[in-house]
Amino acid sequence: MMKKMKIDKLVMATNNKNKLREVREILSPLGIEVLSQREAGADTNPDENGSNFSENAYIKAKSVYDIVKLPVMADDSGLCVDCLGGKPGVYSARYAPEGQECEKLLDELKDIPESERTAKFVCVISFIDENGENNFVSGECHGKIGFEKRGSNGFGYDPIFMYGEKSFAEISSEEKNKVSHRAEALKALYRLLNERYCD
Ligand code: IMP
Repeated sequence: MMKKMKIDKLVMATNNKNKLREVREILSPLGIEVLSQREAGADTNPDENGSNFSENAYIKAKSVYDIVKLPVMADDSGLCVDCLGGKPGVYSARYAPEGQECEKLLDELKDIPESERTAKFVCVISFIDENGENNFVSGECHGKIGFEKRGSNGFGYDPIFMYGEKSFAEISSEEKNKVSHRAEALKALYRLLNERYCD
């Protein structure tokens, strides 16, 4: 039987405060301390030049792992809009200047009817264990792009991502953390940790 390798601390390869908050909220009840890469002393900023979410997640995780040699996770995420052929996808963070992404997407979809505004958030996590072994897990959250910005919680595309009747920026972070793409990917990460690293 595999020896139980308890993971009580991991480094998240990001300095994005919103992502850290969400990941900490999800992982802290399970007794896992999440350090930002800066707190762990790894201030890298690699080029995210992969062609898909998995490649970019691994690039980020590996650049931090090479410095800290502790368990590291990195996520790469984005919004895929069906009528745009899955765009902005891996380019979600670079689609528009920060703070203008919702307006740009609303403008691009201004002639698209409600039934064709389907979209999904995707999150892929690269988890590298202490020994340098990488595993991917992922999660998705399906919704629609609204017709206007709604709500003031969250970040990025949250004000225009309609999850049922409400946008992601209208629900609390607790509610979002139950259903979001990142929450789904983190649940998958936990299943993986339990299978691989527990008795
Ligand atoms: P990343 O930091 O390279 O993964 O960039 C992901 C980008 O996708 C972010 O900058 C946001 O624009 C968008 N994004 C990812 N997750 C979310 C979310 O939960 N809400 C809103 N926007 C998100």
